[in-house]
Amino acid sequence: MPRGLFITLEGLDGSGKTTQIKRLAAWMQKRGLNPVVTRQPGGTATGDRVRALLLDSGSTPIAPMAEMALMFADRAQCIAEVIEPALAAGKIVLCDRFTDSTEAYQGGGREIGSAPVLELHRIICGDLQPNLTLLLLPSLDVCLERARRRNDRAIAQNGADEGRFEQEQDAFYRRVWLKYREIAKREPDRVVLIEGNLSIDEIHEQFVEAVSERLVTAGHKA
Ligand code: TMP
Repeated sequence: MPRGLFITLEGLDGSGKTTQIKRLAAWMQKRGLNPVVTRQPGGTATGDRVRALLLDSGSTPIAPMAEMALMFADRAQCIAEVIEPALAAGKIVLCDRFTDSTEAYQGGGREIGSAPVLELHRIICGDLQPNLTLLLLPSLDVCLERARRRNDRAIAQNGADEGRFEQEQDAFYRRVWLKYREIAKREPDRVVLIEGNLSIDEIHEQFVEAVSERLVTAGHKA
């Protein structure tokens, strides 16, 4: 059985990533590709508990190193329960965030640096790397405004407050944004960077183009 394809989606809060992953999954489903869709943090029962701890703005302060370790704890569970079994069964995995998020948010945003994140990745994830990463990076202002508006709406609608990161200052998000660009520059073969304030349809088209290319290379029918 040929190994499946591991595709990750990355971007700042408010980049429109969640809308795009849904559309991409639907596009694949129509073609009979039936992807396994998961997310980090979350994606497993244990991961959802870690997610609640990490994202609830009512959580007591979490030290940057503890935050990074929790992100990897969640990832380890998701790899064991979801990602590895799916890839071994030849499936396509669409994962909303992976180690690039930790490098951007904890490495860049929290200023831990890339090296500890990449070292932990090596220990915890081994040689598992995405075959393709779609990185959505609209302008910083647009992301910040959308993310904060969305969080206020979620609180008003159902009291769900996942806004611990959205409360961060603009300088934090600038560091995250810059680190993402650094990753894209460092790994141009893996990371497809989609920049600018494009429409939902335009982004979807670019996603489809990048994914189709990889599918053909990997021997799947696009
Ligand atoms: P999202 O599921 O809406 O993308 O939100 C997840 C939040 O968690 C987002 O603010 C980014 C943050 N995050 C990290 O800081 N490090 C990580 O490794 C991951 C996966 C997410």
